[in-house]
Amino acid sequence: MSYLDLDHLNKAFDGAIAVNNLSLHVEKGEFVSLLGPSGCGKTTTLRMIAGFETPDSGSIHLAGEEITSVPPNRRGMGMVFQSYALFPNMTAWGNVAFGLRVAQKSQKDIKQRVNQLLDLVGLSNAGHKYTNELSGGQQQRVALARALAIEPRVLLLDEPLSALDAVVRVSLRHEIRRIQTALGITTIYVTHDQEEALSISDRVVVMRQAMIEQVGTPEEIYTQPDTHFVATFVGTSNQFPGILKDARSGLVTSVNGDWQISIPPIMDDHMQNGDALIVIVRPEEIRVSQAEIVIEEDNVITAVLETITLLGPVTRLSLSLPGQLIIADIKTVDRGRFVCGTSVQLSFPRRACRVMPGGDITNGDDN
Ligand SMILES: Nc1ncnc2c1ncn2[C@@H]1O[C@H](COP(=O)(O)OP(=O)(O)OP(=O)(O)O)[C@@H](O)[C@H]1O
Ligand SMILES: [Mg+2]
Repeated sequence: MSYLDLDHLNKAFDGAIAVNNLSLHVEKGEFVSLLGPSGCGKTTTLRMIAGFETPDSGSIHLAGEEITSVPPNRRGMGMVFQSYALFPNMTAWGNVAFGLRVAQKSQKDIKQRVNQLLDLVGLSNAGHKYTNELSGGQQQRVALARALAIEPRVLLLDEPLSALDAVVRVSLRHEIRRIQTALGITTIYVTHDQEEALSISDRVVVMRQAMIEQVGTPEEIYTQPDTHFVATFVGTSNQFPGILKDARSGLVTSVNGDWQISIPPIMDDHMQNGDALIVIVRPEEIRVSQAEIVIEEDNVITAVLETITLLGPVTRLSLSLPGQLIIADIKTVDRGRFVCGTSVQLSFPRRACRVMPGGDITNGDDN
């Protein structure tokens, strides 16, 4: 048993399934993100943990105790929402103090705790300000302090940064992680931003259509996606649809014979020679070289360079093969003198290839 256990949770609204047989086990002090496209059931899952929704079936245990039908105010959860849900008629200080007053703490304890929390979220000088005098980022800091004031057993965050601009979002997400680590508080964080999930979580739960698609560390999710959906939803992926020619030696050819790719040998029987499959290669694994250079690499394919886009430290090249576009991200310092419209060679090692069954073709953005 873990600290927070979700077992076989199901929830439907008017017959439409929002969460389907979801099981998840979270350790004490862990930071776990629920990541997935709009409508995949993230908020519903969080609301069941908080007690705002009752599952149709399944159970929730916290520290070994069943809480499936315990009311929200007796679960010891702190929650921060996407919209700034502060009390507008109170100051920042009053908002953070609210839960402590309800819990009938002494004046002295309240004062000490509120000051400590405002300090923790970097707002020790803004306690006297009313909600409409605070920026969006400051309001979310107050909401975070308010959620933490009651010393919740679990902190639940539902897209707390999505209404903020990009710069504030990035700095505040690091703040949230810093505070979470300092307090050692078990946290479930909902987002549909994959970069956010990868950058702050101990583990990421990728959800799709009411179900969990994969659970893993950010590195596992990014480098070892289990499914085509995870490979395309998390990060950018190139896809080479082909036919398995020789499983033992690891040889794949394109349907019309334009290219062949060496993949890691397939030693079990989950794929057979002749099967349709998709070879997935991350853009940063692909090297691009001038056509005349001799390249020693497992895979070398000739393509036409279409566009060059400077993204800062990385430059993104788009390259065309018959019937498809390939993206390669190279270091800007290495970009050399490529000319659009000319032939180049793209190369990548066998180990950079992940193989998915070809029958599983779905778009990453099926929301
Ligand atoms: N109270 C409700 N009544 C009816 N349907 C609901 C209710 N809450 C959620 N749903 C439906 O359940 C499904 C999952 O919704 P949920 O809010 O959990 O998705 P989400 O992953 O949080 O999406 P988003 O990223 O857009 O917030 C959706 O199809 C949604 O329309
Ligand atoms: Mg939601």
